[in-house]
Amino acid sequence: MKKIKKFTLKLIKEKNLQFSESFSNSFSTMEVTVVLLKPSAVQRGILGEVITRFEKKGIQIVGMKMLCLTDEMVSEHYAHLAHKPFFGRIKASMQASPVVAMALKGVDVINVVRQLAGVTNGREAAPGTIRGDYSMSVQENIVHASDSPETAARELARFFSESEIFTYPHFLHPCTYANDEL
Ligand code: TYD
Repeated sequence: MKKIKKFTLKLIKEKNLQFSESFSNSFSTMEVTVVLLKPSAVQRGILGEVITRFEKKGIQIVGMKMLCLTDEMVSEHYAHLAHKPFFGRIKASMQASPVVAMALKGVDVINVVRQLAGVTNGREAAPGTIRGDYSMSVQENIVHASDSPETAARELARFFSESEIFTYPHFLHPCTYANDEL
């Protein structure tokens, strides 16, 4: 926990990332969120299509890597579901192939990416959302997306080291946001 806090504070300071909901003199917040492209996306060969959705929306990719989730990572990541009878099958599903972890940066991006992902059940997710367009399942629902600033900070530290998060100019920013939104 201490390690996560230190890592988060360092990122906020050095890489201009905000995890808190308030931002002085502004109604919007530059944030970073974590997306996992699950084995259901990797194995179906739709990584490019899903990644393109984030890029087209105007969200900046500041970290991206393929990795196999360890037992510990899955247990931490889905700790809120550990008591559920279906936890074993979720774990197997998340370890069925490598996943792709992405760190995405933008104004209010945590909420924006949750909206792009759609509700958990792919059969109920609205058309136009990632789950609504690509999934027929609750479990095999293509993406994970952080659900709050606190979760995003924890997940960033879980899946990325400091050197794997990048700061670079995003040349589309001037036509993605108004001056006072940044
Ligand atoms: P959850 O955190 O509730 O949803 P979300 O991913 O939308 O934030 O659940 C985590 C994952 O666990 C979910 O994406 C798919 C799987 N899951 C099931 O397989 N069955 C279930 O009944 C639930 C609630 C989740």
